[in-house]
Amino acid sequence: MTSLDEKIQELQEIIDNAERIVFFTGAGVSTDSGIPDFRSQDGLYHMQYDYPPETIVSHSFFVNQTEEFYRFYKDKMLALDAEPNYTHKLMADLEAKGKCIGVVTQNIDGLHQKAGSKKVYELHGSVLRNYCTKCGTFYDAKYIKESEGIPRCEKCGGLIKPDVVLYEEGLNEEILNGALNAIESADVLIILGTSLVVYPAAGLVRYFRGDKLVLINRDVTPYDSNADLLIQASFSDVIPKLKV
Ligand code: OAD
Repeated sequence: MTSLDEKIQELQEIIDNAERIVFFTGAGVSTDSGIPDFRSQDGLYHMQYDYPPETIVSHSFFVNQTEEFYRFYKDKMLALDAEPNYTHKLMADLEAKGKCIGVVTQNIDGLHQKAGSKKVYELHGSVLRNYCTKCGTFYDAKYIKESEGIPRCEKCGGLIKPDVVLYEEGLNEEILNGALNAIESADVLIILGTSLVVYPAAGLVRYFRGDKLVLINRDVTPYDSNADLLIQASFSDVIPKLKV
């Protein structure tokens, strides 16, 4: 059995030797910033609501029960005070050093960019962008958070929708292609903090053709056996030990 320290050492060597790292991230990278993930024991999907969260964050629920959607969304998904943690910062530092060519993320919290990452492919959109469904006027997340009930456009009264991919909605093709290209041209793919059960996002991992697939996650995932290096641990026990 390889000890955690040995695995961290191996990861350090992979990073040192890499030229084109791509990170693939999920909600787990933001739990150390105080944002709950979805499927962990203390994640959103284990809390009790009037409807299952998967139902609430669906397109049909947004259309048919808009007020209820926004009650949940504002309360649980708009963590505007959250700050990036050491995991976001590691990725930004590696990009600044010219070693990371992109972060493909399922997260909608904007923390990768807040940490300094520039090449971020937001597969599921961002809570930071919101648009009037009638006239297209842009609104920031603060406007949504501070609105009473259903946020409406100041100009035309239209319903505002977050630029977030809800269940039953398709992914943005341009972002998807950008993510695919990045993954296909990576020599190292490092997957962090995702249960890898939501498609099509999780399927992107299959397009990796490079040297080393690294998977760091606290819980098991369906892709564990595909990893060249699997680190099943909390980020706090791994990431701060790495040197950029
Ligand atoms: P999940 O909640 O499914 O998975 C998060 C993973 O991160 C879990 O497997 C945890 O073990 C791991 N994790 C959490 N905190 C960690 C820590 N501190 N250290 C190490 N590992 C940690 O989140 P996602 O895979 O991102 O989609 O979920 C995918 C999609 O499902 C989301 O983008 C969202 C959701 O429905 C939409 O809303 C469209």
